[in-house]
Amino acid sequence: MAPSTSSTVNLNINGEKHTLSVDHRTTLLDALRERLDLTGTKKGCDQGQCGACTVLVDGRRTVSCLQLAVASDRREITTVEGLAEGDRLHPVQQAFLDLDGFQCGYCTPGQICSAVALIEEHAAGWPSAVTEDVRPQAGPPPLTPEEIRERMSGNLCRCAAYVQIVEAVAHAAAGTRTEAGEAAA
Ligand code: FES
Ligand code: FES
Repeated sequence: MAPSTSSTVNLNINGEKHTLSVDHRTTLLDALRERLDLTGTKKGCDQGQCGACTVLVDGRRTVSCLQLAVASDRREITTVEGLAEGDRLHPVQQAFLDLDGFQCGYCTPGQICSAVALIEEHAAGWPSAVTEDVRPQAGPPPLTPEEIRERMSGNLCRCAAYVQIVEAVAHAAAGTRTEAGEAAA
């Protein structure tokens, strides 16, 4: 008997469970867009170079064009559709809107998902390639424009809205820090 070329996967997406039979070659990106109609996640290069397809898998940034759907079985996936709470946009979405962090908008869902994870990674003290003091006791480095540019370097924007994107990420990160400080006070 020929080996099966498809499998059943359970995808937990934006808090909802989906059970699908997928060809083993199906990427997470194609499963989201073609099978589940979650078209917020965009296909740019389809080869891991542009970041347009970025989603969060177990909270980590992932280019969904390079991840197979079968490798996403039982993982927690967040797409741009899962960031807002009802009518209330996620602070990163709001910052992109308020600070014009986009032009055509095609790269924007990936930029936003990436920025959401960036802010969490930074708050957790993860260094980047441009962090000067990487000792754990040094704590998170200041989130300078250089840090943001480096940490967002996997997300390309063909409209070159980079100046506003960096401002939007900095604004959202500052708001998150303020909220965390107020909650702790
Ligand atoms: S579409 Fe996935 S990185 Fe470009
Ligand atoms: S806003 Fe057009 S590609 Fe980024």
